[in-house]
Amino acid sequence: MELKVLDDYNNLSAAAAKMIVDYVKNKPDAVLCLATGDSPKLTYQLVVEMAGKEAVDFSRCVFIGLDEWLAIPPDNPGSCHHFLHHYLFIPLDISESQIHLFDAMTNNTDAECERMNSIVSGNGGIDFMLVGVGLNGHIGFNEPGTDFNSTSHLSKLNEKTKTIGQKYFNEPVVINKGLTLGLKQVMETGTVLMIANGKKKAAIINKAVKGEVTRDVPASILRKHKNAVVMIDKEAASELEP
Ligand code: F6R
Repeated sequence: MELKVLDDYNNLSAAAAKMIVDYVKNKPDAVLCLATGDSPKLTYQLVVEMAGKEAVDFSRCVFIGLDEWLAIPPDNPGSCHHFLHHYLFIPLDISESQIHLFDAMTNNTDAECERMNSIVSGNGGIDFMLVGVGLNGHIGFNEPGTDFNSTSHLSKLNEKTKTIGQKYFNEPVVINKGLTLGLKQVMETGTVLMIANGKKKAAIINKAVKGEVTRDVPASILRKHKNAVVMIDKEAASELEP
């Protein structure tokens, strides 16, 4: 795992965006899995900007969803579906045939997880994944305690995730469960970029990057990944032990 500390959120976002754009330039048919949330917002805005300036072609890429809030409709602005369309798919003119997201409204979560597993394997696995990290150490909705061998699954959300998750919604919602790719699929991804910014992420980043590799801190698994990059700003790096 490679750790890169950037000065601030702007520099971090620019570096992350460049990594995505360069990846697609080198592999125009890349299978991408991109997280939602506050951390990557500026990254995605910069990807769109760079793609426009440098005429980068995303039309052959495949996009696979990392996670979704169960029972939150796709038109809810807090859904991952809405986020990805708003920040990436619409501005980059990605066609629906390139997009594979979890169906939050499914009444058969097992079948939905199997469907997403088949999409991942049917596309030969994921080439590039961008993840954020939750204050509890989750990646995707792989909450503390998740089996390192997990594939797509229904996740019972941790109290912290439920409380913090409200920030994405315009009005209070019930978010008890989520659908997510599993840690095995994260580990099988060619390149994983994890980003984190701000003082609030400093303690969990120290645990993930310097502590033991443990199910209690799912993000710590990236230390065993063959090609993981962790990009953080100085604030998120402020509690790193030597
Ligand atoms: C969202 C996701 C989550 C977030 C994490 C950090 O698709 O997978 O694991 O990446 O909760 O969220 P932010 O970036 O809002 O701090």
